[in-house]
Amino acid sequence: MLFFPDFNKIHASHHIPHFKIINNKLYFYCYVTIINKVCSFSIYMIKKILRNLKKPQKIPGKILSKIELAINKKKYDKNLFINKQDQIFKKLNLDRDLGQKKLTEIKKNYKALNNRGIPFSEHEVLFSSLSCNSMLNINEILEIGTYDGANAFLLSLLFKNSNIETIDLESNKDDFKNFYNRNDDINKFLELRNNYLSKSDRISFNEINSINLINYKKKYDLIWIDGAHGYPMVSMDILNSIRLINDQGIIMCDDVWINNIVSDKMYSSVAAYETLNELKKEGLINFDLIFKRLDASSNCLEKKRKFVAVISLIPKKK
Ligand SMILES: C[S@@+](CC[C@H](N)C(=O)[O-])C[C@H]1O[C@@H](n2cnc3c(N)ncnc32)[C@H](O)[C@@H]1O
Repeated sequence: MLFFPDFNKIHASHHIPHFKIINNKLYFYCYVTIINKVCSFSIYMIKKILRNLKKPQKIPGKILSKIELAINKKKYDKNLFINKQDQIFKKLNLDRDLGQKKLTEIKKNYKALNNRGIPFSEHEVLFSSLSCNSMLNINEILEIGTYDGANAFLLSLLFKNSNIETIDLESNKDDFKNFYNRNDDINKFLELRNNYLSKSDRISFNEINSINLINYKKKYDLIWIDGAHGYPMVSMDILNSIRLINDQGIIMCDDVWINNIVSDKMYSSVAAYETLNELKKEGLINFDLIFKRLDASSNCLEKKRKFVAVISLIPKKK
């Protein structure tokens, strides 16, 4: 016969459902897990319903979007996009399989890198593949937009001989506090970030708005543009990066939307794409786009598809 423990005596160890024999009776401990899950799901649903009720006129549009997503998810051929992605990597002289293997090995040892609460992005495979290419000499890296510092830490693991400089807005500024849900518990966020950034002495961090890159003189071999994604900031970041990159260096720009209808200064915009196209038209750069995500939910709708741009300089004519 199965017994359940006294609810009042349940403590943290009962988070994981498990069986226990006490005085020849088989007990099943699972309350905290189930109650936690039910509570957080109910709170999430209540918040969602309240948010929707604030703008009832948007509800039909949202329902239609969900239906459109469901239909396109069914039709999505993931293998087709994996093949396309492989081809773009090949064009860039990169071995995507090798990159994936190295990344998987690293993440076996650093499991926290898998649990960031953000869906997996192919930029990590791109970094990993770059690190596997012995023709490239990547020593000095600049990251614009540190967030929680996990990516800077990953870079330090991939590029063993590199120095990584990473910059983010000052944490007392409104744009830092009001985006990325950091205001709820900013100290916890900063603690997590400090933890990642202190894991390697090859990482240096500066609290500085990327506009100030205008005064930087140092040259980098790899620049990761991942700060604000809209106008005017991403355009300035791209121009500054072009000035700061070594001739053979690589600039990568995250979250490139190519046909976005809703636009904002921080998360989503066509700003990077439009800026890169103008620079390409002028013969200053070349760029390729890789798919940022390959899972059906993120990639099946063309209008919501995001890319990572890989940018190289076109040598100046003498
Ligand atoms: C998408 S997150 C960066 C993610 C991180 N690079 C990664 O790969 O995990 C964007 C970060 O850029 C920062 N940011 C936004 N505008 C910025 C600016 N003008 N200068 C520096 N950082 C900025 C934000 O505060 C945020 O932490």
